[in-house]
Amino acid sequence: MSPVTEHPSAWLLDYLRKEWLALSAGALLMSLRALVLVLLPWPLKYILDNVIFDRPLPTWLHRALPDLMRHGMPLLNVLALIMLGLGALDALLVYLGNRVFLDAGQRVVFAIRSDLFAHLQRLSLEFHRRHRGGEVMSRLSGDVKQLQDFVASLGIDLLPHALTIVGMAVVMLLIDWRYALLALSSAPLLFYIARFYSRRLKQAVRQVRNQEGTLWGFTQEILASVQVVQAFSREAHEDGRFGEHAGKSLAASIQANTVQARYGPTMNLVIAVATGAIVWYGASRVILGVLTPGDLLVFLAYLRGIATPARQLAKAGAVIGRTGVALERIGEYRAEVSTVVDSPASVAPSSRAQRLEFASVGFGYRPGEVILRDISFALEAGKTVALVGPTGSGKSTIASLVPRFYDPTGGAVLLDGRDVRSLPLSYLRAQVAMVLQEPALFQASIWENIAYGRAGAQREDAVRAAREVGVDHLIEQLPGGYDAMVSERGLSLSGGQRQCIAIARAMLCDAPVVILDEPSSSLDARTERELMLALSRLASRRAALVIAHRLSTVMNADLILVLERGQIVQRGIHADLLAAGGLYASLWQAMRDEATAPKLRIVAP
Ligand SMILES: Nc1ncnc2c1ncn2[C@@H]1O[C@H](COP(=O)(O)OP(=O)(O)OP(=O)(O)O)[C@@H](O)[C@H]1O
Ligand SMILES: [Mg+2]
Repeated sequence: MSPVTEHPSAWLLDYLRKEWLALSAGALLMSLRALVLVLLPWPLKYILDNVIFDRPLPTWLHRALPDLMRHGMPLLNVLALIMLGLGALDALLVYLGNRVFLDAGQRVVFAIRSDLFAHLQRLSLEFHRRHRGGEVMSRLSGDVKQLQDFVASLGIDLLPHALTIVGMAVVMLLIDWRYALLALSSAPLLFYIARFYSRRLKQAVRQVRNQEGTLWGFTQEILASVQVVQAFSREAHEDGRFGEHAGKSLAASIQANTVQARYGPTMNLVIAVATGAIVWYGASRVILGVLTPGDLLVFLAYLRGIATPARQLAKAGAVIGRTGVALERIGEYRAEVSTVVDSPASVAPSSRAQRLEFASVGFGYRPGEVILRDISFALEAGKTVALVGPTGSGKSTIASLVPRFYDPTGGAVLLDGRDVRSLPLSYLRAQVAMVLQEPALFQASIWENIAYGRAGAQREDAVRAAREVGVDHLIEQLPGGYDAMVSERGLSLSGGQRQCIAIARAMLCDAPVVILDEPSSSLDARTERELMLALSRLASRRAALVIAHRLSTVMNADLILVLERGQIVQRGIHADLLAAGGLYASLWQAMRDEATAPKLRIVAP
């Protein structure tokens, strides 16, 4: 993505420049069309002046035509044929020009959309925390589409019509400059009206697009959490909230429509008044003998010929207003820079990482907020460090600093002694495999979800990875086995099944550092045992940072860090910590109670 440019729309030029060939071909076609439109009323003038009123032909036409065709029916036939030819040429040019511009517009949109998607994907999680998915979608679809309309109307409406107006104005000036100036005197007024409404419309459209963004953000969120909505029977409540958002969007659209609706008639009124004045004056010039009836015909034809493009230009004014808003909204996203800056210039170490270290790390999600304070520990290959602590104490947050989902606000995370901020992101992330607390799966088969862990991995690799962590029989139990399709976000699978697939995926990735955020939901005893075994297989020989909610993980860890409100309050191995009392001992007691408590007590009557 190119760096932010000075003018908000300068980046669009970069895309248009790539289409220069198509755009210049289109511009040529449209200029030819403007020429045809300027020529179109001329045969009519000669029909009137030289066929009907039988005046002598102008010298150049007299010379161009053979003797037989200089009068009467033969002359009429020639002129009629020329009119027909011009009409056909106009149709052909419109067809070709439309094709060229529409296709170029489509390609521009395609390129912008691809680049924007690539850009958004790489923005740090901090951006995605601030923006709802639906709103991002609304800019990727609606606003980008607006740019396509712009390219099309630029070529199809704006260019030929502007050229036609200029061409016709020049010819009118040549025929009778005084009359022409009168006829063209309304142009500045029309221009002023166009500018006035274009600005008003832009404001209104900005409102519309922002309201629509909010509406889609809301819709996407509700549909993604539809289970919660149904579970609590809040459909009517959400209908109300949708209505509220949609109502605001509707009000903004109506406001924009009001502006646009006033625009056309205002232009038409000015054009009608001007036409009346011009016809009256022109007819009086013919009576005085300054103009021929044919000249008046050309003038009137041009006047109509100018009024139509002027109206088209008015339409284009609306498109420009809308496009300005779209450019702003897309430009905002383009200007977003990742808070996590890759350092691709630095050389990636050739070896696999051996040691992960946190050195006095401090962190907050928002400026000024403190979520982690002075976190220090080291983790070597083959060892396991467990993080325990009450919910919200910052365990998952610590894990997210390792692959640089966020950067610490104080201290540093080091990989083999090097600050992770100085490593290329691609190297860093290849060193770390993550099993998230709530693993996300894609709408694809199970094996494809596992194979996602490594680019180019095949079905056999996925099956092998699942075997290695010992979850293959769980997968084979599912109807369809490895080829079973997972629904969007994996909702067709249980939490334990999702976690198993995520572990196999991390195994396939074969990174020297693994981070496991155990699911905090309780699983049945057998699934839990399977999961623990899978975790320990994945963790063996690697440097494992485990966020533990289970007894067995904690007991076997080489180092346990006890976290409370973002600080390490105790550290050591299980036996020592237990003996020392304090937070760990009480957490342990609570875990034991949970593990040994009868799950369901049936009281006999
Ligand atoms: N994306 C986020 N944006 C802002 N604040 C966040 C974000 N994620 C977590 N927090 C806050 O950071 C704190 C630590 O959250 P974290 O997810 O690290 O807790 P945790 O120890 O993993 O808890 P649990 O055991 O429930 O998973 C919480 O107070 C939480 O509100
Ligand atoms: Mg967590």
